[in-house]
Amino acid sequence: MEVDRAIANTVSSPHYILGPAVESFEADFAAYLGVKHCVGVASGTDALALTLRGMGIGAGDEVITTALTFSGTAQAILHCGARPRFVDIDPISRCIDPAAVEAGITSRTAAIIPVHLFGHPANMLRLMDIAGHHGLAVLEDCAQAHGASIDGRMLGGFGHASAFSFYPTKNLGGIGDSGAIVTNDDLLAARLRSLRHYGMKDSQRISSTMGFNSRMDELQAAILSVLLPHLDAGNIERRALADEYRRELAGLDLLLPPDDPGAVYHQFAIAYKDRDRLAHLLQSEMGIGTSVHYHPLLNHHPAFKDAIVDQLPHSEWLSPRLLSLPIQPEVAAGNAGIIAESIDKAIKP
Ligand SMILES: Cc1ncc(COP(=O)(O)O)c(C=O)c1O
Repeated sequence: MEVDRAIANTVSSPHYILGPAVESFEADFAAYLGVKHCVGVASGTDALALTLRGMGIGAGDEVITTALTFSGTAQAILHCGARPRFVDIDPISRCIDPAAVEAGITSRTAAIIPVHLFGHPANMLRLMDIAGHHGLAVLEDCAQAHGASIDGRMLGGFGHASAFSFYPTKNLGGIGDSGAIVTNDDLLAARLRSLRHYGMKDSQRISSTMGFNSRMDELQAAILSVLLPHLDAGNIERRALADEYRRELAGLDLLLPPDDPGAVYHQFAIAYKDRDRLAHLLQSEMGIGTSVHYHPLLNHHPAFKDAIVDQLPHSEWLSPRLLSLPIQPEVAAGNAGIIAESIDKAIKP
């Protein structure tokens, strides 16, 4: 209802791109996260790519990230002309391992992109420490972590800048593509506002640098403003479903995601040795749809053939085993017990 009203109001308004709805959402989202600036853009991938450019990262630079993520994370590195360096994950959090990051730093390293995979916080305190020591920029990939936190402090506020996606399936998602960058850096925020708009200053029609057309539209912003106040409640539901899975699946021959109180369970990914057979059985015999995130690892995608690839034993072990169970409250509420029972049946010898 509220969303319908927001859509109708936008359609009848004189603004479709970068208008008052975008400004209002930017202010609300920045306040929600406790950061100074939010810059709405056209997608999460653009949020990452524009930020790397805004940070001055480009040809000759290396950017350290994980290979166990969505392609968009590392596509952004290619877009600014830099080279991805894939380092291993921590096998418990499944996020980038700070020790592997430290081992992968060279004289060409310019930035680190930790991904809060599946809504689980990466070890930001340790990563910021390492980055500070080596003078590196940190860009948090928060595409799966809206509302996640570490000791009550929101993700998105740890790095020098953070990128969010509002793709429809995200914990906070619109009805199309959009994204945002948040930062406490005044200069970077101003640069990003210009980069998203042909390299122009908002009120001028002169391009002072090479820029992009990457703006959040009013429709997405209006819808996201309606949904933002419900984000925490949705995340609480996801945590409750995760707890239920955790209880019901305890003792089975599979690995569960870490039980982190700050996680927001964008996905609930179990690891099981015969993942494809389990997924097939759940679908064909019980009608339960699951998803695979992420296999193959990015270092096996042709697009990243020129990336630097460190030893990835934990990522390579986990990637063929991960299976995401339904966790979206609209799909999983009331069904987690049945799904867990079906898994139990499917994997018992
Ligand atoms: C971890 C991660 N990074 C980046 C992106 C890219 O976001 P978008 O699809 O909005 O470009 C996604 C989205 O799917 C993602 O999950």
